[in-house]
Amino acid sequence: MKAIELKHPLIEHKLSILRNKETGTKEFRELVKEIAMFLCYEAMKDAKLEKVEIETPIEKMKTGKLNEDKYAFVPILRAGMGMLDGVISVVPNAKIGHIGMYRNEETFEPVNYFFKVPKDIDKREIILLDPMLATGGSAIDAIDLLKSKGAKKIKFLCIIAAPEGIKKVEKAHPDVQIYCGSIDKKLNENKYIVPGLGDAGDRIFGTK
Ligand code: PRP
Ligand code: URA
Repeated sequence: MKAIELKHPLIEHKLSILRNKETGTKEFRELVKEIAMFLCYEAMKDAKLEKVEIETPIEKMKTGKLNEDKYAFVPILRAGMGMLDGVISVVPNAKIGHIGMYRNEETFEPVNYFFKVPKDIDKREIILLDPMLATGGSAIDAIDLLKSKGAKKIKFLCIIAAPEGIKKVEKAHPDVQIYCGSIDKKLNENKYIVPGLGDAGDRIFGTK
C-alpha cells in the first residue's frame, strides 16, 4: 500500500509552526495533538459503521454509528504519547496499548523496552502512533511485535516521514497503510529527517 500524505493547507500551516526551532514545548504539544487528530480523521475514512435508528426532534431516521470498541491506539513511547490525546479526542472509547522503543544513538537500531496491549488485540483494528518515521526500524519492530500477538489490521500514523523509512516499512509490512503529514526530503548522516523538526520526543517533553 502506498503511503498517504495529507496534502492540505491546514496541515502545511501547522507543520510550519511545528518545524520552527523557535516553537516552544506548549505550542509544540498542541500542534502534535491537532495534526494527530487530522491523521486519525483520514485513517478512519474506511471505517465500517453499524446501522442504528435514532429519533431527532423532527423524525425517526436510520443512520450509521461507529463501534469505537473495535479500535486500539498504540503509541510508540515516548514521542507517540504526544499524538494520543488527539486521536482519543475523536475516538474516546478506543482501547490503548503502549510500546516502549528507543533508537540506539550509535547503531540507530531500535531497542524495545516495554510492551503492553489490550488482550484481544487480534480482534481490534490497531492504529499505531509515532510522530517520526526515520529509518523505519522502530515502526517495523513495533509492527512485528503487534503481529506476533495476533494483530491483523494495522494502520500507522506519523507526522513526518522520510522516503527511506517509508520504503523499508512498505517492504517489511506491505499490508500496513501509512498516513503522514509530510514526506520530507531524506535522512542526514545521524539518521534525522531533513528538514524534519528535530527530536520529537525532546521537543514534546522538553528534555533538551
Ligand atoms: C524517535 C521517534 C521514533 C524513532 C524513529 O524515537 O519517535 O520512535 O525515533 O526513528 P527510526 O524510524 O529510525 O526508528 P526516539 O528513539 O528518539 O525515542 P523517544 O521517543 O523516547 O525520544
Ligand atoms: N527521531 C526524531 O525524533 N527525529 C528524527 O528526525 C528522527 C528520529
